[in-house]
Amino acid sequence: MEKKQALDMNRGGGESSYSQNSKFQQKRSSITKPILENSVQSLISKGFHLHKLLNVVDLGCSTGPNTFSVIQTVKETVEKKCKELNCQTPEIQFYLNDLPGNDFNSLFKGLSGFCDQTQGESFYAAGVPGSFHGRLFPRNTLHFVHSSCSLHFLSQVPKGLTSNEGLPLNKGKVYISTTSPPVVREAYLTQFQEDFTLFLKSRSEELVPDGCIFFTIRGSADPTSKDCCWQWELFAEAIAELVSEGLVEEGKLDSFNLAYYLPSPEEVQDIVEKEGSFAIEHLETFSFEIGDKQEKDTWSQGEKFANSMRFYTESLISHHFGEEIVDKLFQKTTRLLVEELAKETIIAGSILVVLSRILG
Ligand SMILES: C[S@@+](CC[C@H](N)C(=O)[O-])C[C@H]1O[C@@H](n2cnc3c(N)ncnc32)[C@H](O)[C@@H]1O
Repeated sequence: MEKKQALDMNRGGGESSYSQNSKFQQKRSSITKPILENSVQSLISKGFHLHKLLNVVDLGCSTGPNTFSVIQTVKETVEKKCKELNCQTPEIQFYLNDLPGNDFNSLFKGLSGFCDQTQGESFYAAGVPGSFHGRLFPRNTLHFVHSSCSLHFLSQVPKGLTSNEGLPLNKGKVYISTTSPPVVREAYLTQFQEDFTLFLKSRSEELVPDGCIFFTIRGSADPTSKDCCWQWELFAEAIAELVSEGLVEEGKLDSFNLAYYLPSPEEVQDIVEKEGSFAIEHLETFSFEIGDKQEKDTWSQGEKFANSMRFYTESLISHHFGEEIVDKLFQKTTRLLVEELAKETIIAGSILVVLSRILG
């Protein structure tokens, strides 16, 4: 398959759209909200209100309600802190970034409803289509960068997943698997190092000195552990069933790999230190159980999880394997997920990082 994947979250508000399937991301955002508030407060304490205009960006915002809660948290925290310090609240310009294929129309339709309910000072919002693996803003213009659950998407499928003879090295799998040869993990890590370094370099040019990046990324102490790989193992198993039913060619499965990597906290820390533009103010890992406890129906639980995978793989799957297999593939994935969720509790790990741009 071609190196650049056509990453495109499902649009609108339908069953498999991102806005209907962002509950896991919502869970993650509510856990990290206190640290987000602290980071914004500390910007104001450092005197950032004197800029009179705060430029804030949400990178990889997608279309769901999570973006609105980020806007709300940042806005309320700035207002509260300025009131506490008895200083004038700066105006806030929010930039909402995602890839050009993102459903910005749904995002801005939702935003106008959100604005109607918002109290306090008004704010400004603008869409910025483009990849965060490169420059998006002029030099020295950003004050605060937010990104939740987006930086584990790679700019391309890692190089080096085929041998010199052109044979697939990750045969029968779609991501690092507990049985993949070490070269597969190395290829994924190398691509992540390249992408994340470029991300940091770009932000270091765009942020003002002392400006801050707050981000969460999916990850785990051991990127080859079951925590990181299990869902894609099941996904590959579902595709393999389609191969055995003659609906998909084996070679198609062998040549499909996701452009996605869940790093360890040490890998993240190492890349930040090597790149050298940022000081790490905070780095922690946290995890939560996958599954909706209120949902007693195990099939619905599996279906919800399968939908949360579908919203960002559907366009890739249609493109690589053909649109006609998509429903069947996700039915199979749901069945395998239901069986897995019945066997054991699944934990999703994440890393939360706050960086400040080194002065000078
Ligand atoms: C799982 S969603 C997270 C959305 C939202 N931040 C949240 O927490 O709910 C990941 C988003 O990252 C976006 N994304 C992936 N790679 C990107 C890139 N290189 N530049 C900008 N956005 C990207 C995807 O299009 C997707 O909308």
